[in-house]
Amino acid sequence: MGEVVLNVNGARLRVDALAEETLLSVLRDRLNLTGTKYGCGEGQCGACTVLLDGHAVRSCLTPVASAANAKIVTIEGVEENGALSSVQQAFLDEGAFQCGYCTSGMILSATALLRQEHDPSEAQIVAAMDGNICRCGTYPRILKAVKRAARIQTSGASR
Ligand code: FES
Ligand code: FES
Repeated sequence: MGEVVLNVNGARLRVDALAEETLLSVLRDRLNLTGTKYGCGEGQCGACTVLLDGHAVRSCLTPVASAANAKIVTIEGVEENGALSSVQQAFLDEGAFQCGYCTSGMILSATALLRQEHDPSEAQIVAAMDGNICRCGTYPRILKAVKRAARIQTSGASR
């Protein structure tokens, strides 16, 4: 394929990529953004989730060519004004991880949800996060973290 220009975490980056290469492969292996994780490689686990124009997508299924004109956000760029985002802070406050392998994808899926729905119900959170698998089974704390992040965002203060 040759050179592709990507907008990653606010930076325009030129990268050489193969035509069949996935966005996940380019992020991890060519741009060294290893916060995005390889889990199943088949769209089933959510570990590779990134934002593409604000939408949560599975980067393991996304051809890099299709991301060329999109705004890509990875876990390395999800911070807000140099501080942890409200979702990151809520995951930390609730201890919503064990091994942490699923956490990047969880945070990006939650970020996308809370941009669309500021005060989601528990059912909406579960539905939106359904494709993200946590092999450590920290779902109860993840749920609490997403609710906490919603409260932070709607109140503008940590609780
Ligand atoms: S690695 Fe992409 S969904 Fe599992
Ligand atoms: S914290 Fe280990 S997979 Fe979720």
